[in-house]
Amino acid sequence: MRKKLVVGNWKMHGTRASNAVLLAGLKEAGPWNAQVAVCVPFPYITETALALTGQRVAYGAQDCSAHEQGAYTGEVSSAMLADIGCRYVIVGHSERRAYHQESDPLVADKAKAALAHGITPIVCVGETLAEREAGRTEEVVKRQLAAVIHTLTHCIGEIVVAYEPVWAIGTGLTATPEQAQHVHALLRQQLKAATQKADQMQILYGGSVKPDNATQLFAQPDIDGGLIGGAALKAADFAAICRAA
Ligand code: G3H
Repeated sequence: MRKKLVVGNWKMHGTRASNAVLLAGLKEAGPWNAQVAVCVPFPYITETALALTGQRVAYGAQDCSAHEQGAYTGEVSSAMLADIGCRYVIVGHSERRAYHQESDPLVADKAKAALAHGITPIVCVGETLAEREAGRTEEVVKRQLAAVIHTLTHCIGEIVVAYEPVWAIGTGLTATPEQAQHVHALLRQQLKAATQKADQMQILYGGSVKPDNATQLFAQPDIDGGLIGGAALKAADFAAICRAA
């Protein structure tokens, strides 16, 4: 039996003041049966960690460098994230792939760097609307996951996968539970060919998850929770999604 996991991805939102309100709201609403985490902007990680002291909510970052250390201005290493207690890091989010030209091999290297420091990478995969309409969904998500399987080899069982159809992110368009389940099952099948741990691995769905669609999505056999964007910015909505998991 896999434990459900709900991760809030705050993206580039928040201030110290608004974060304090949000985190206080989560503190009041929890704990939940599901595992819960928030991935927050770099400058706020330490303060988030302090605010979550004693809470059953993990925290993490939204990206990491593929490099160990060195002259990489602006980058943040996994060692640094581990140093401040991060449990998770999101890698390969479609916004990083699209706006920062992150390739499949780079995403795989970032996942590897995270694991090397004991941080669980949440590896995002997902097709664009054009790719879905061209019937290429399966090919795209399998290619993205294959790069990570190839790089991590025997460690692949240690990652979390997030299926995020790009057309559903921040658009209010959600994949139907059946559409999402179909892709999740394909991804699990691909993982099964690579690791005996595939049945224990968490595969999250992301893309306009809201309190009113979370229950149905999370009821699907291969959907093990969610990666939540917009709805993670309101304590009441995020708490309701955590309750649904
Ligand atoms: O990482 C989260 C996803 O991009 C989903 O964002 O819930 O705002 O659609 P959204």
